[in-house]
Amino acid sequence: MPIIMSDALTPLRLGLTGLGGYAGYVCDRVLAESENDAPAAHLLAVCEPEPDRFPRRVAELLARGVAVVRDFDELLNLKLDGVWLPLPIDLHLPFTERALGAGKGVICEKPAAGCVDDVDQMIAARDRARLPVAIGFQDVFQPAVTTLKRRLVAGEFGKPRSAQVVGCWPRSERYFTRNTWAGRIRRDGRWVMDSPASNALAHFLHLTLFLLGPTRAASARATEVSAELYRANAIENYDTCSMRFLAGDDDVPICVAYTHACAASIEPVVEIETERAQIRYVSGRHVEVRVGTNVEVLRLSPNPHHLMLRSFRGALHHATSNNGDGEALVASTLEMARAHIVAVNAASEAAPVIDVAPDCIQVVPSADQSNIQAIRDVVPVMKSLMARRCLLHDSRLASWSHPAGRMTINGYSHFAGPASSSGAAPPAATNPASIAATAAAAH
Ligand SMILES: NC(=O)c1ccc[n+]([C@@H]2O[C@H](COP(=O)([O-])OP(=O)(O)OC[C@H]3O[C@@H](n4cnc5c(N)ncnc54)[C@H](O)[C@@H]3O)[C@@H](O)[C@H]2O)c1
Repeated sequence: MPIIMSDALTPLRLGLTGLGGYAGYVCDRVLAESENDAPAAHLLAVCEPEPDRFPRRVAELLARGVAVVRDFDELLNLKLDGVWLPLPIDLHLPFTERALGAGKGVICEKPAAGCVDDVDQMIAARDRARLPVAIGFQDVFQPAVTTLKRRLVAGEFGKPRSAQVVGCWPRSERYFTRNTWAGRIRRDGRWVMDSPASNALAHFLHLTLFLLGPTRAASARATEVSAELYRANAIENYDTCSMRFLAGDDDVPICVAYTHACAASIEPVVEIETERAQIRYVSGRHVEVRVGTNVEVLRLSPNPHHLMLRSFRGALHHATSNNGDGEALVASTLEMARAHIVAVNAASEAAPVIDVAPDCIQVVPSADQSNIQAIRDVVPVMKSLMARRCLLHDSRLASWSHPAGRMTINGYSHFAGPASSSGAAPPAATNPASIAATAAAAH
């Protein structure tokens, strides 16, 4: 049975899985939350299967009165309102199901899962438990983003016409070997589908689909994808991609260009053109809304996690006190995350991962004492796709590019697996059944 919280302003009793990787950062954020005048949550317990790897952190937590346990069931047996799960992608579904089954609300890290099938199971588990599940797309909690979404939905800027997304974040060989799932397609029989589009740079495609969605709480659904997927690193999945989606009832084109195989970084940018406005979201900084000669700047908050915790607390209070639909109040829903997973799953079904020729790659030392496999000139090329609004191969800017694979994605609810990495682009398919058949034959 869910624990009934006494009122909407009582700080949440929160548990956390893990102390390594992003979980360490989340731990800092929740501990910092306790220092606020009106904290939304207190960290009460952490579950880490290998606590000996983090002796200083464990000592600090114990000194603060935070319980440290090894096993998730031990964590779930404690008096907690909710748990935050910054876990490997393939563990998102099973841990979310277990937490909901134990009466805990869940903040699950992005992406929601490796495949749409898992997301649908998470939605079913949430609905059975009548408890909220928030997905850790923290940008969605930014007041600038919610304001922009409200104004877009109200029609203030006219209909969206197109969107462009670009992001180049260098990732070293150490990044891809830091655990047993980075860059992987599957682990232990479950889809991981780790890629820049599904993981590190997922926020920006997710945000774009959210902003183009028809209502305040809904994301736009992709109806068609054309994708080029490339690999410079020794990984199973891709580290570089160029994708074009059609999304929503008006088939708004969205072009996405992402790479981790780069020596230099460019902060992710989302540009949306509507009938009356040009909107430019610059990650970590601001949103610019240009209408004619007027430019409005909406600053992004430096602490979206505080806003996320406040929103989650409100949803949990609503769910437990009214026995109502907690999900209605969660700002980053499983349904929104599903729209993102459908898009990236479909891209992987539509296009094989193609190896970038070794003579187009340079090895650059990275700050973490490792190396980056960087595709030559990839950053200016990816940047210029934003202005050209086209796929990489169509731009003729990259000798290593191949024509895109394409498929329609209406009614998509099953990930049939990635297209085979044969090195050759697949033929275009116009219906899910035919592409699923092509993909299945190739596995
Ligand atoms: N929202 C963001 O901006 C953001 C940023 C980075 C990562 N993430 C997400 O966080 C998640 C984790 O990513 P990562 O790169 O830190 O992964 P990682 O594999 O490097 O670290 C995962 C950690 O989870 C813990 N863990 C693993 N198995 C566990 C178990 N059975 N029980 C309890 N704890 C366990 C361990 O402490 C491990 O170090 C991913 O979903 C990733 O996409 C989100």
